[in-house]
Amino acid sequence: MKVLVATDKPFAKVAVDGIRKEVEAAGYELVLLEKYGEKAKLLEAVKDANALIIRSDVIDAEVFDAAKELKIVVRAGAGYDNVDLAAATAHGVCVMNTPGQNSNAVAELVFGLLVYTVRNFFNGTSGTELKGKKLGIHAFGNVGRNVARIAKGFGMEVYAFDAYCPKEAIEEAGVKATASVEELYKSCDIVSLHIPATAETKNSINYALVNLMPKGAILVNTARKEVINEAELIKLMEERADIKYVTDIMPVANEEFATKFPGRYFSTPKKMGAQTAEANINAGIAAAKQIVGFFKDGCERFRVNK
Ligand code: 3PG
Repeated sequence: MKVLVATDKPFAKVAVDGIRKEVEAAGYELVLLEKYGEKAKLLEAVKDANALIIRSDVIDAEVFDAAKELKIVVRAGAGYDNVDLAAATAHGVCVMNTPGQNSNAVAELVFGLLVYTVRNFFNGTSGTELKGKKLGIHAFGNVGRNVARIAKGFGMEVYAFDAYCPKEAIEEAGVKATASVEELYKSCDIVSLHIPATAETKNSINYALVNLMPKGAILVNTARKEVINEAELIKLMEERADIKYVTDIMPVANEEFATKFPGRYFSTPKKMGAQTAEANINAGIAAAKQIVGFFKDGCERFRVNK
């Protein structure tokens, strides 16, 4: 049984060691393909793999066509918009994610980005503090919940809206639930995005929504670039010099944002949210365990395709 770890953005070595331990303890073989760059290398490596562990690596129909022996793909992480689920199902492949395993890492990065932003990107001038500010959490899943916990430590007033999470569940976590997404943007000085990239959410963070935010607003994105309507956000930031956008997922229009909005825009060069040893260990080892459970016990918990 071959388990291929195909990660263009590699896990920390300590996580790979942990994955190897799990896989070998089950009597399987681990094959590592890191920083492969071109898709051709991935297509070659998947040929005889029975199981695949990936991160944001794109697994499309061409990959499934090449992977004749593949039975399971585990996305070591939360978002699985990089996997063609219909193609997986058509090829009889089970797809899983590892929800919650890297969410604290992403949530901590939100505050790294926020402190950097409110302190004027460390340019030596007086900034502001997070204490007392209103933070809006857009989607209250695993990352959103961790963001709420940390925000309370900063002394922020925490709000959330989630189209799929009942108001009561948000309030049980000690967070104010707004009745609509519009109310969240209207009420908060800072909005932190935690929505997945789906047909429904793509381009949904647009001019009309962000324009509801009060003066001096900050939008922070550690979710997906596809949820932003980049052309409309640029237009809004041209009209409103008070708005800042900070992101962990470089927009397609990065150059334009950087040129037009110095001091009001920042993007990490590479997505860093889940890049901690702890998150790599948690998500990577969970992925390995899920693969072993799938083959040995037929366990399909965390399956995301039909
Ligand atoms: C996720 O969906 O789990 C995060 O966006 C992390 O993605 P990454 O594994 O590519 O860093």
